[in-house]
Amino acid sequence: MTGWDAWAADETARVRAAGQWRAPRDLDAAGPAGTLAPDGRPVVQFASNDYLGLTQHPKVVAAAHDALDRWGAGAGAARLIVGSRPVHTELEHALAGWKRAQSAVLFPTGFATNLGVLTTFAGPDVLVCSDELNHASIIDGTRLARADVAVYPHRDLDALEHLVTTRAAGRRAVVVTDTVFSMDGDLADVDGTLALCHDHGALLVVDEAHAVLGPDPEVDPDAPVLRVGTLSKTLGSLGGFVAGPRRLTELVVNRARSYIFTTASTPADAAAALAAVEIVRSQEGDDLRARLRRNVDQLREGHRSPIVPVPCGGEERAVAMAAALLERGLLVPAIRPPTVPPGTARLRVALSAAHSLEQVRTLRVALDELAAR
Ligand SMILES: Cc1ncc(COP(=O)(O)O)c(C=O)c1O
Repeated sequence: MTGWDAWAADETARVRAAGQWRAPRDLDAAGPAGTLAPDGRPVVQFASNDYLGLTQHPKVVAAAHDALDRWGAGAGAARLIVGSRPVHTELEHALAGWKRAQSAVLFPTGFATNLGVLTTFAGPDVLVCSDELNHASIIDGTRLARADVAVYPHRDLDALEHLVTTRAAGRRAVVVTDTVFSMDGDLADVDGTLALCHDHGALLVVDEAHAVLGPDPEVDPDAPVLRVGTLSKTLGSLGGFVAGPRRLTELVVNRARSYIFTTASTPADAAAALAAVEIVRSQEGDDLRARLRRNVDQLREGHRSPIVPVPCGGEERAVAMAAALLERGLLVPAIRPPTVPPGTARLRVALSAAHSLEQVRTLRVALDELAAR
């Protein structure tokens, strides 16, 4: 074996020995119900980020079709070269309007957005304060920026204030946090963080990828606050964006390498998201959020987000519970270390307005039964 083959074999063996080897499994579905490879068994999944079911909305799908017919399959170039179509700019205006911001900039994904935003504003001379449970794309963005990174305990504003007042001393500071944390479905204290950043002159970057049911903070459009979002969850398409003061978003366009050196999103993706923003901001959007709220309450009354963790403790129990649910046709992923800290393995239920009340009730009954075992 060559050196690389031996290395790859070792790495593979290590991941397998840890029980962490993964491979995608095809789910043939247009909505929560479908058939799962390899045996084609029927399942209802509780794992997607299609929170309002907009991947399947006729207006969203029709908008993508129209864009395909008008502009073709791909944009063919980066935005700053010749890849920018009118639909990209229209979508940026709609996203800025939705977030009550001066301006918004589109990226190919939410992941690329965090990389681009953090590398634009952070660097070796900047202190970045980052919540310990922030998403991987934030962690990678702070690393790529080669910033001085201070990770603060989850949601601990006293610790954050201490960092900003002591370690930042004389330097610019960035505070970055998810507003809904992707593994626990709990919420940051966004208003408290906003006030803290305002008091200490720190730039605040909030990642609102999962904030379909809020929080939706009131932000002074001129304040140094950047709202990162994704088109791939609530909006049912693919892409990411940052919204904020024009002087900052224009800098992103000129500095962010994950914006500059990558092909523009497909016109169909942008058109689908544009149709989705219109729905989200309409009465129909309110109705869909109410339906999602009802589904969340059905599973866990009063829980603030559509991500509902079911703690299992050990990895084995989480895996066994996920397998038992799958036997009943309910697909709920087990989340294990290293994604979450050891001893906190869980089932991660993600609910959608596209689930029927009956589907959510079936899941609740199954979870209650398994918990009683
Ligand atoms: C909090 C958070 N930020 C960013 C992303 C990345 O978004 P995208 O899937 O659009 O790349 C995700 C997606 O998993 C996320 O959970």
